[in-house]
Amino acid sequence: MKNIKNNKNNKNYYGVIKYISYFIILLIIMYIFQLKLDPNRHISYHCIIRNFLILSVILLVINKKINILTAILIVLIVEIIIEIFHQYGYNLDPYDYKVINFYRWSDTLWNSKTVRIMDTYTEGKHDCNPHIHVKDTIIPKYKWICDQGKITENSSVLEIGCGNGEFLNYLKDVVKCKNIVGITLSPDQQKFLSNKGYTIILSSIWDLDKSLYNKFDAIILNGSTEHFLNITDNDDKYNKMFDIINKCLNKNSKSKRVIITCIHFHRNFSSYELFQLYLLERTYGGNYPSNINTYVDIAKNYNMSLIKQENRTMDYYIWARKIWWNVLYGLREPNTFINSTIDIPIFLSNDPYYTQKILHIFFQTWSWQFDVPFFPMLSYDDTPPVYHEWLVFEKK
Ligand SMILES: C[S@@+](CC[C@H](N)C(=O)[O-])C[C@H]1O[C@@H](n2cnc3c(N)ncnc32)[C@H](O)[C@@H]1O
Repeated sequence: MKNIKNNKNNKNYYGVIKYISYFIILLIIMYIFQLKLDPNRHISYHCIIRNFLILSVILLVINKKINILTAILIVLIVEIIIEIFHQYGYNLDPYDYKVINFYRWSDTLWNSKTVRIMDTYTEGKHDCNPHIHVKDTIIPKYKWICDQGKITENSSVLEIGCGNGEFLNYLKDVVKCKNIVGITLSPDQQKFLSNKGYTIILSSIWDLDKSLYNKFDAIILNGSTEHFLNITDNDDKYNKMFDIINKCLNKNSKSKRVIITCIHFHRNFSSYELFQLYLLERTYGGNYPSNINTYVDIAKNYNMSLIKQENRTMDYYIWARKIWWNVLYGLREPNTFINSTIDIPIFLSNDPYYTQKILHIFFQTWSWQFDVPFFPMLSYDDTPPVYHEWLVFEKK
């Protein structure tokens, strides 16, 4: 009897030791992955709890203590509890990673290491025509930006949020601009472009170095301002954005133009639309100005007047639908496929919002926001939930 009890105790003891060793191995793997993702190793407690939980339920399922459905339910319930805490301001990710994480995903999936699949991270100039190949819409947009920005070979140009530098390539190769600077928040993009010889500063717009003040004839923000604010910030913070842009413009320049392409809110949302917006925010981070006049009104405080405003929502919708084809097409290229197969589990285990990312793919949230409502009962009115605007400002 005593022996049986001892054996049972030993078994439990070994079970706990085994479990702790799995956990330690998991922590080491996460730490190594974290090194790959973030040299500063900002730890996400959300990821640790989630991965630990997933490991626990996998072990419980393997040992036939619970079934798979219960396991999924447990993970979902804990995720929901974490989200509720988050909503009340208790964030388990002290360093908000969303924007950087998103670009790591997309730099892997969209921009193959060997073959360029996506040329830009924002829409081209489709002029509402889906029959044009997406690659043939980019140059016309850059031409539009240069015409509106009065950019010539002698201009000095700052692109805030330069992505993988497709517009910088156009400035250098086609316009023959010599004085161009790009800003990005993504270390991968900075490395990629610096290796190509560009002057790229790894910085958030909010921490721009003063050495950039009073230097530029034209400033371009092509699809980047959507990332600048947090969901809890309000429109007032765009004052600071315009203040920084204003300071970077060269006071003696003859042109002093600012081009912004940006998604805007323009109406209220139904509950289903709020759910989609939640997925958007958790996947990409950021916020949109609350109406299509937000920037126009704030710009006036800095003596910048609106020269042109075009609604390009349909262009963005066409592009957003087409990128899925491009992403999947990219996976046919062996290197991209292999890199993605290795990288996706790494991203998933280090991404606090992996559930939302998967759901956002399922619900096609990115293109949904530019589309006319498909189910009228689930929408506030018959317009798309957001408008995408191309704006041109001139500083007097
Ligand atoms: C949608 S991409 C657009 C990139 C590029 N303009 C293009 O057309 O491909 C947004 C860019 O904004 C940058 N970005 C995001 N948040 C930023 C911030 N707070 N400050 C500066 N750049 C930021 C990202 O690193 C990324 O390069």
